[in-house]
Amino acid sequence: MNQQVSAGIISTGSFLPEKVLSNEDLEKMVETSSEWICSRTGIRERRIAEKDISASDLAVRAAERALERSGLSADQLDLIIVATITPDMFFPSTACIVQDRIGARKAAAFDISAACTGFVYGLTIAEQFIKLKTYRYVLVVGVEVLSKIVDWSDRNTCILFGDGAGAAIVGPVQPGKGIQYSHLRADGSGGDLLKVPAGGSKIPCSRDSLENGLHFLKMSGKDIFKFAVKVMEDSTRDAMEACALKVTDIDLLIPHQANLRIIHSGAKRLNLPPEKVWINIDRFGNISAASIPVALDEAVTSGKVREDSLVVLLGFGAGLTWGVNVLRW
Ligand SMILES: CC(C)(COP(=O)(O)OP(=O)(O)OC[C@H]1O[C@@H](n2cnc3c(N)ncnc32)[C@H](O)[C@@H]1OP(=O)(O)O)[C@@H](O)C(=O)NCCC(=O)NCCS
Repeated sequence: MNQQVSAGIISTGSFLPEKVLSNEDLEKMVETSSEWICSRTGIRERRIAEKDISASDLAVRAAERALERSGLSADQLDLIIVATITPDMFFPSTACIVQDRIGARKAAAFDISAACTGFVYGLTIAEQFIKLKTYRYVLVVGVEVLSKIVDWSDRNTCILFGDGAGAAIVGPVQPGKGIQYSHLRADGSGGDLLKVPAGGSKIPCSRDSLENGLHFLKMSGKDIFKFAVKVMEDSTRDAMEACALKVTDIDLLIPHQANLRIIHSGAKRLNLPPEKVWINIDRFGNISAASIPVALDEAVTSGKVREDSLVVLLGFGAGLTWGVNVLRW
């Protein structure tokens, strides 16, 4: 009989490029002010990868840190999932490139595209494989090099995004620990709110698409904002109800870091005090799929997440997609 096991995060790791782009730097690039950016988004600076750095370079560094802390060898990994909207290329998958570079010779590998919800999607997929005992150890990476798809002349978007990678090794844990609940959702009717129109099979790369800037990220900020605040409240409440827990039981909420005002509005609606909500958007901006695993790694390594902590990961973003993981550490 194939009895289920509990799946949980065994270790985390992250990697951020060294180069800092401050709001003051942006003032010299587009018509904006540090004051506007801080008050409307909460972002003070973001990390930007060097020109010759791609998603796999950042992913490998984060993955190696997570592997080192897990005490496992790369050979013990059964599967690698990379969540990204800025892969090295269409194919091969960035996960296959990571698999080769870290020497995970026995692992399967694939990418997933769920934008800022990517890590929550990836963790939930890993959970299924482990619970069913198909695989024992899964590496989940969220990585983005958004600086390469941002239009650096568009002040509406270029101030928001950054680059980075976060990783987690997921595996079997003691009963009662690990992932207690996961929930993934999508609403493709909102796909136009946040997208890169060209470069795929709908609008292949052409002189026209390049001249019209269709390879850059386009966003309807206000609509995304409303969607995000609603999702943050509704998904957290639904998840707590499904776990027969209360919002007050949460030790740490790690929301996707898209805008400080989104996080504050969501936390206020949930009545969560500031010390129960992780915030790093001031230092890294929005790093899409890397946002949650980078924040989780910070929370774990700083000692904020302890044995038995109830941690909620909450993602939302393009697709539209959203999702939640509830973990007992
Ligand atoms: C993008 C966002 C910060 C804009 O904030 P906002 O308060 O909605 O601002 P608005 O879009 O109403 O713009 C207000 C004004 O500021 C201007 N503005 C926009 N970007 C600016 C900038 N960087 N500097 C100065 N002014 C700016 C606008 O042009 C507009 O001017 P106008 O009134 O003369 O047209 C906000 O909507 C947001 O964060 N949305 C969510 C985005 C997001 O999270 N995306 C990723 C999801 S995973």
